[in-house]
Amino acid sequence: MKHLLGIADLSRDEIETILATAEEMHDVQSRPIKKLPALRGRTVVNLFFEDSTRTRSSFELAAKWLSADAINVSAKGSSVSKGESMRDTLMTLDAMGVDAIIMRHAGSGSVQQAAGWVRASMINAGDGMHEHPTQALLDAHAIRRHLRANDLGDIEGKRVSITGDLLHSRVVRSNVLLLQKLGASVVLVAPPTLLPPGVENWGVEVTYDLDEVLPEVDVAMMLRVQRERMSGGFFPSEREYIAGYGLTAQRLTRLKPGACIAHPGPMNRGLEISSAAADASQSIILDQVSSGVAVRMSVLYHLLAGNTGSDRRD
Ligand code: CP
Repeated sequence: MKHLLGIADLSRDEIETILATAEEMHDVQSRPIKKLPALRGRTVVNLFFEDSTRTRSSFELAAKWLSADAINVSAKGSSVSKGESMRDTLMTLDAMGVDAIIMRHAGSGSVQQAAGWVRASMINAGDGMHEHPTQALLDAHAIRRHLRANDLGDIEGKRVSITGDLLHSRVVRSNVLLLQKLGASVVLVAPPTLLPPGVENWGVEVTYDLDEVLPEVDVAMMLRVQRERMSGGFFPSEREYIAGYGLTAQRLTRLKPGACIAHPGPMNRGLEISSAAADASQSIILDQVSSGVAVRMSVLYHLLAGNTGSDRRD
């Protein structure tokens, strides 16, 4: 595997391999291992044209904990703000001889396009409304660890609801693809104005009734309302949204025993998820964060460990 552009490109075997290696990145107390020599001599760049806390910092930690060198380049503070194009920015970094470029950009398909311009491995850290593959991989890792810790089996055969602003979400696309590849069934819950076009072809159930769905799911994944991507007309009032689609303290009681609550973050507490739900004993939200480091270590390892500085160009 040279690039990680999306879950759509991965087979179930490749997903299982990444998740199995992520498991090995934890110590016996389930904490990520903080120093391995696997990527000594490799250099990775975090190139973020959009803001991030979790993805950028966990990729940086993942690279450093595998002994790679890591640098961060953001649109703000780089020559992008002087008008340099995405292509020139990428080719400039590539010319420095880096081994991997981890890129987040507002354009759907931008990371795939970038892969055609550079010799480094490209990793998609979120491209527009298209995909966020490492988020889906870390979600599966955290869900699997929750299921195993509670003797609830594996993801195969489980039912997962994904509720929220699905129209603007790259996380929902990657999660639907990955959960289906691992044998789970997915039900999407959103107001009609926040459903993605073509969702009827995704092989998922779609409903507007969160109360009906919650008692039957093993995982209730809540997604952020992305107000920064809304120019108006999408969104009911906050009060209506919470009434129909928020995981409130009252709705928490509808979850079946053993079901867990997931959210990729950042959260709008009090909107799509209440603090009662985010901080509940069933919440795996912080486990998702720690899974992110292990999964990103695994991804970097699989893309870069076999390559030397000279053969990265093949
Ligand atoms: N979930 C996620 O991608 O978070 P960040 O935007 O903080 O990276």
